[in-house]
Amino acid sequence: MDSRESLNIQWYPGHMTKARRMIEENIRQVDAVCELLDARIPRASRNPDIDALAAGKPRLVILNRADLADPAVTARWKKQFAAQGLAVLECDAKSGRGVAGFAPAVRALLEEKRKEYEAKGQVGRALRVMVLGIPNVGKSTFINRVAGRKAALAGDRPGVTRGRQWIRVDAGLELLDTPGILWPKFESPEVGELLAITNAVKAEILDRETLGAHFMLRLRKHYPDALTERYKFTPDPEANGFELLEQAGRRRGFLVSGGEVDIERMAITLLNEYHEGKLGRLSLEAPDE
Ligand code: G4P
Repeated sequence: MDSRESLNIQWYPGHMTKARRMIEENIRQVDAVCELLDARIPRASRNPDIDALAAGKPRLVILNRADLADPAVTARWKKQFAAQGLAVLECDAKSGRGVAGFAPAVRALLEEKRKEYEAKGQVGRALRVMVLGIPNVGKSTFINRVAGRKAALAGDRPGVTRGRQWIRVDAGLELLDTPGILWPKFESPEVGELLAITNAVKAEILDRETLGAHFMLRLRKHYPDALTERYKFTPDPEANGFELLEQAGRRRGFLVSGGEVDIERMAITLLNEYHEGKLGRLSLEAPDE
């Protein structure tokens, strides 16, 4: 790969250290930890420190944005998380589909805990759950849905820390909202790329043309039919990502003077249309099986 093709994404370690400290300070106050993941990238959207941070707590994994993910792949992820001993739920916080399963899933997960509280005379003590997720995964939207009102402010910016907040779902269940946490350094360029394609890191900090070219290669490999259907071309098996953008852009009529294709415009269109679900339900990571 030449330098034009390499993506190098850095994060804001200061904010992340702060967020991690806040989690460490508050974890003792909760009965369970709920991780919100992007169903299209359940591995890349997961904080690699989560096992250490949540050690000893019952855990629930939520595969959010399931409306944008390939249902068959999501089903395989659910199996894998369940096999790891985690409770798992899929949902679409935007429309609300699947969210009603959250409170019952937490109660089932914490049935033992509730009995313990009762045995200690703490009848009716609310169960407390910490909600974690990387920025922009849909945490505010999810919490608003679960609490059934405008409970948390949506539209967080990546890396911006908010104060901690308890949110009452009902008399028996409270959520501790936390600022999204990300790792100080992405584990690999692949993780950075997946986070950028799914908008967890804002595309303006990247070269969108390069990102779009990388994305084209993924689509040709895993979902060539989606490309053909949406952009009316058969991806050339020999072409590089930029050439695929050119092919698609030509079909779209994204031409500039002299008949050349506006590749950047095509890259931005591709990323936006994926974000809006216009290419169909496409997952970008599969579980290791
Ligand atoms: P955060 O607190 O984790 O940072 O995320 P937030 O709730 O602000 O959600 C980020 C964006 O993702 C919001 O859109 C929200 O509507 C959308 N979103 C949340 N959950 C889902 C889901 O399950 N499916 C889909 N399709 N979208 C979801 P936004 O503010 O309009 O931004 P965007 O849509 O341009 O990203």
